[in-house]
Amino acid sequence: MSDQIHIVEMGPRDGLQNEKTPVSVEARVAFVEALVAAGLKTVEVGAFVSPKAIPQMASSDQVLRGVSQIKDKVKGAEFHVLVPNEKGYDAARAAGAQVVSVFAAASEGFSRANINCSIAESIERFKPVLARAKADGVKVRGYISCVLGCPFDGEIKPKAVADLAVTLWDLGCYEISLGDTIGVGTPLKAKEMLRAVGAELPVANLAMHFHDTYGQALANLYAGMEEGVRVIDAAAGGLGGCPYAPGATGNVATEDVVYMLEGMGVKTGIDMDRLLATTNEVAGLLGRPPVSRVASALNAK
Ligand code: HMG
Ligand code: MG
Repeated sequence: MSDQIHIVEMGPRDGLQNEKTPVSVEARVAFVEALVAAGLKTVEVGAFVSPKAIPQMASSDQVLRGVSQIKDKVKGAEFHVLVPNEKGYDAARAAGAQVVSVFAAASEGFSRANINCSIAESIERFKPVLARAKADGVKVRGYISCVLGCPFDGEIKPKAVADLAVTLWDLGCYEISLGDTIGVGTPLKAKEMLRAVGAELPVANLAMHFHDTYGQALANLYAGMEEGVRVIDAAAGGLGGCPYAPGATGNVATEDVVYMLEGMGVKTGIDMDRLLATTNEVAGLLGRPPVSRVASALNAK
């Protein structure tokens, strides 16, 4: 359990995509800079999706361009953006993207609500993106939403998740991020799902993307670590949510994950004071205190 864990920071994308308060490009760039300075080198910074669907992610091209100089200064810094189709890929590449993420769902109901197509149609949209990315030397991460339950279709079978993970892997995704989009999972269910996927794909190439709606995310992450998963998606301050996932709240908070890992003797390389300052700064912009337990506890000191 003590080997390295890689945290993929979601704050500037998942964290802000469902916020009512507009956040300027300058503030989004500053958010990314502060996260990297705190030690979070892999950051999802935006999404090249329809601005009618997700206005919060408009101008992701400017954000990506705005953070590009960080890559020259900070060794290993890597910025991800979501792309749902070739149109998104074109725009992401024009802004300099070197890592893109496609996003599918394990349930038909969520696929339709989120990206307006069936699961099979979404795979057809991803095929040219992955083919072009391969030719361009661009890495592609693959998400699967609703791996532990869907707001529309209910229970999701682990086999459905595993089959879709294999499809994304075979298309060329280097990592499959498994999303408990509505945060309904519990540890044994998380284990069962991860075992099903891990039976088909290398566990080293799986990531856990757990929203914390029911307060289960840390327990689920621990359960997943017991299964050998070593990549964790998290958002500073526990920000996040998806407008197409009714009732869902934010991602597991990065500071909660860091506190747990450091307490277990896992070195994260993340500076908690800087992370807390960043979390508080963004909370100030959004006009409310961070929801994370660790931020609340440290702020009360
Ligand atoms: P569609 O309606 O099926 O697509 O939308 P379309 O090709 O028919 O185009 C419709 C309009 O969208 C057109 O514009 C296109 O130009 C435009 P109009 O003629 O109406 O002015 N369009 C685009 N604009 C910008 N960038 C693009 C793009 N593609 C088409 N790439 C589409 C399909 C996917 C575009 C749409 O449904 C959409 O943008 N949905 C938003 C999905 C989204 O961002 N959801 C949140 C992120 S996913 C998530 O949070 C889950 C995750 O965190 C994991 C987890 O927690 O489970 C990753
Ligand atoms: Mg999410």
